[in-house]
Amino acid sequence: MRKKIVAANWKMNMLQVEAAEFVRDLLQELGDQTAAEVVIVPPFTAIPRVVEALGGAEHVKVGAQNMYWERSGAYTGEISAAMLRNLFVRYVVLGHSERRQLFGETDEMVNRKVHAAQDATLRPIVCVGETLKQRDAGQVEEVLEGQLRRGLAGLETKAFTETVIAYEPVWAIGTGRNATPAQAQEAHAFIRSVLRELADDATAARIRIQYGGSVKPDNARALMSQPDIDGALVGGASLEARSFAQIVLAAAEDALDEERLSS
Ligand code: PGA
Repeated sequence: MRKKIVAANWKMNMLQVEAAEFVRDLLQELGDQTAAEVVIVPPFTAIPRVVEALGGAEHVKVGAQNMYWERSGAYTGEISAAMLRNLFVRYVVLGHSERRQLFGETDEMVNRKVHAAQDATLRPIVCVGETLKQRDAGQVEEVLEGQLRRGLAGLETKAFTETVIAYEPVWAIGTGRNATPAQAQEAHAFIRSVLRELADDATAARIRIQYGGSVKPDNARALMSQPDIDGALVGGASLEARSFAQIVLAAAEDALDEERLSS
């Protein structure tokens, strides 16, 4: 069974004090839930403060929103995988649509970052998703398959199981318009079929695929209960501890339901 994974993508938000307050409130809201894996993804500048505020709470992990693929050197303004590991970061979001659209990231760049992250034992969360124009033109599968094939090129089977995929339809990000559970499930099932081809059946069955795009406390449960949706990458609703915790708890409840059904 795949453990659900819910991540808070803060984007370019949260100063240090706010970050520390968020962590304190979140730990309180979550109590001792461990049914879903939780990842906080702060801007680089708030990472140390988040780690400190977590104080060794092992059930909440820390991620970064981006990194560069070189190990060190003359790359002004960039951050390496080793620098993130040095801050106790476990996950790194790669190829988010905002990076692709606003900063010109290509699948080839994403691929180099995926390899560099894996080499440094950082787990990549690789984002894929179509624009509204591509959806309207009937190109969803073509776009997803291309992003996956190029972005994950050359990965070993073991590296696949440590990679998380986030399906984030661009038209659903920050718009308040989430994909319906059925639309999301269709895309997730397709993504898993591509993963089967890129790796193998058993490996594809273990890879977690998050949904992202206007996930809120009131739609989280319906999305999470779809068979191929293994968690959420949350933007707007992750800026407040209470609403993010509600999404985590929705994932945890769903995981517990699945357990009951299978035993
Ligand atoms: P949103 O962002 O939840 O605000 O739509 C999701 C994301 O960009 O990861």
